[in-house]
Amino acid sequence: MNRRYRKTIIAGNWKMNKNPAETKEFITQLKPHAARAKWCETVLCVPFIDIPAAVKAAKNTRVFIAAQNMHHESSGAYTGEVSGEMLVSLGVKYVVIGHSERRQYFGETEDTVSQKVRAALACGLRPIVCVGESMSQREKNLTLDYVRMQIKTVFWDVDPKDVKKVVVAYEPIWAIGTGKTATAQQADEVGRAIRECIREIYGARHARSVTILYGGSMNPKNAKELLAMPDVDGGLIGGASLQCDDFVQILDAADQ
Ligand code: 13P
Repeated sequence: MNRRYRKTIIAGNWKMNKNPAETKEFITQLKPHAARAKWCETVLCVPFIDIPAAVKAAKNTRVFIAAQNMHHESSGAYTGEVSGEMLVSLGVKYVVIGHSERRQYFGETEDTVSQKVRAALACGLRPIVCVGESMSQREKNLTLDYVRMQIKTVFWDVDPKDVKKVVVAYEPIWAIGTGKTATAQQADEVGRAIRECIREIYGARHARSVTILYGGSMNPKNAKELLAMPDVDGGLIGGASLQCDDFVQILDAADQ
């Protein structure tokens, strides 16, 4: 973390879990803890149907609500899709883009990710964009090349004034939901390469303003060590964000 230049963010990604009543209960429990956090912004990435309940429960707190996906057009004949403008109208502040589960199960590509990033920024949402390698890419020593390619696509045509609004989440695919965490050194090495790539495109001032999260089996036990690294500015947490107690322990680790 480096609080001088960029925000620390702890974001829970609930994936396809919890209904509106459970959402309200969770946020009621979380509220006093989030209010205590001095340095760290708390974000909850909830299913679409939970957004109204989440925004209502989080009103006047320091908890921000994110969607887990959006469509790049603002409206039109796209059955089953939700646009960024619709999310903004509900009070959503962040949106996850290009999670590896969306790439793996729903056909998202570098191209759709890039379109969605620009669409999110255009309507005032902060994108949390996921990048990360598979185990076979890591074994072939392709991690840094692959992630650099992803970062170049993510930032393609992004205006310099918007760079600091983009949050990058480094989520190695092999660490998601597997209980296998990247070591703090591995997470930091890729975080550093991501920042270096942004620096090559936009320069040092912009690069140091970008928050880079780590995601992949982050939990109350390993959070402190990961968050101590200079290029790990927070976490995108799946499984361990479903229990408020676990999530609060991670939040506390980030706020020290
Ligand atoms: P887990 O924390 O369950 O490994 O999930 C990480 C993730 O995919 C967050 O977006």
